Amino acid sequence: MEKTKILIAYGTRYGATTSTAEEISKVLQGEGFEVKVVNLKEEKVKDISKFELVIIGSGMKMEMWTSKAKAFLNKFSIELKKKKVALFVSSGARALMEYKGEHDEIIRITKKYLEDKASKYDLNPISMTMFGGIWDYNQMGKIYRKFLDAERENFIPAGIKETEPGVYDSRNWDEIRKWTKELASQI
Ligand SMILES: Cc1cc2nc3c(=O)[nH]c(=O)nc-3n(C[C@H](O)[C@H](O)[C@H](O)COP(=O)(O)O)c2cc1C
Repeated sequence: MEKTKILIAYGTRYGATTSTAEEISKVLQGEGFEVKVVNLKEEKVKDISKFELVIIGSGMKMEMWTSKAKAFLNKFSIELKKKKVALFVSSGARALMEYKGEHDEIIRITKKYLEDKASKYDLNPISMTMFGGIWDYNQMGKIYRKFLDAERENFIPAGIKETEPGVYDSRNWDEIRKWTKELASQI
């Protein structure tokens, strides 16, 4: 029997969404699906007709999705309305907000990053979620680094690990795997 096909199409600036998408793919393959993972900066998607589920992911910067992920939503807006869709974003801010107890802010960004995006494209995703991301002080521009240096002291107390010198990763891999398994059960 042919395997059910899933597309994961994503946009990234600092690379976190790449490894998150790869982990999602690994879990879905383990559940018996055929998965195609596309970094939209490197590859164009021409056709989504063969996919039962399309997962669209994006990293966040200054509260904005990547232009590539937005372009994907624009390009396939009509087809996506008729498909099973799931959305995820990589957010560096969420873990810091949790640490600081800024619950209203988490509600606000969840709406802005996910719910508003789904509404804008008239999508009714079977699942939407916000994962952690990375703060990479080696990759960010000088001005941002200066601005974000003030946050650095919060990372370790917030439970964000320094995975390499200057790189702080707020992702919870168990959360990513759990979400993916739940998603797989909805297909
Ligand atoms: C300049 C800058 C701005 C950022 N703005 C946001 C933001 O508005 N909201 C957020 O949740 N994370 C923000 N982040 C953290 C990113 O979400 C995090 O780096 C994530 O890994 C981005 O996904 P990507 O690595 O796939 O690009 C920002 C990071 C940088 C360097």
